Amino acid sequence: MSGASGGAQLADLQARNLPRHVAVIMDGNGRWATERGLPRWRGHREGMRAVRRTVEAALELGIENLTLYAFSVENWSRPEEEVGALMHLLKEFVEREIDELCRQGVRTRVFGDRERLPAAAQSSVQVLESGTAAGTRLNLNVAISYGSRDEIASAARRLATLAAEGRLDPSDIDVARFSEELYTAGWPDPDLLVRTSGEMRVSNFMLWQIAYAEIHVTPVLWPEFGRDDLFAAVADYQGRERRFGGVTS
Ligand code: FPP
Repeated sequence: MSGASGGAQLADLQARNLPRHVAVIMDGNGRWATERGLPRWRGHREGMRAVRRTVEAALELGIENLTLYAFSVENWSRPEEEVGALMHLLKEFVEREIDELCRQGVRTRVFGDRERLPAAAQSSVQVLESGTAAGTRLNLNVAISYGSRDEIASAARRLATLAAEGRLDPSDIDVARFSEELYTAGWPDPDLLVRTSGEMRVSNFMLWQIAYAEIHVTPVLWPEFGRDDLFAAVADYQGRERRFGGVTS
């Protein structure tokens, strides 16, 4: 579903319940490149352009929180050349986008195990976060070196340590208290999870936070994802009946 005819229209989408938080598993960069006889990093570079289009579309719709899965803990096992290209792209992304993100009021944060990032990438992240900290229109959260199981295990470890030190009563550990230990503390949970390239997996992404997210899978490869695709995902979401485990009203 795309284009002027048949595509979801901006005004119609805005007139209905917008997801407050959209999370995206950006997948298919490698296939996009391979199909064209290009090296995989070219797919990632094209994927960076899709990030720009998606941010623009989220701003246009008025979505408040957009979270993108850019690099998983498992991705560290990819060939050194590809990992290096992705780290370089992160730096390039910051250099190319920071002014526009500031101008558009996009507060950008990175979450994940940033200690594992090379020093240059860590300082790019620092520049990006501090440079865009005043943004209030859209929170753009980028998962880098992120793994949901690690995130949950670290949270459990911290709570267990506090309990062992007598600083936390185990009976006070509930969903809200546990959530405070996650990278996403204070963020609303994703309402809509989008995955590109047709794969029906959640790939260790925000497992705690997507408990009640609606899932939209599109066959579109991430480098080709754009405004119409985000609009189609939101239209799909708006057609769902969310029950959060309750009964139909
Ligand atoms: C998945 O495609 C995509 C990634 C592992 C990297 C995502 C990176 C970007 C979109 C560009 C950089 C973005 C920022 C914000 C710096 P894949 O390589 O797993 O594709 P495949 O399944 O077709 O092989």
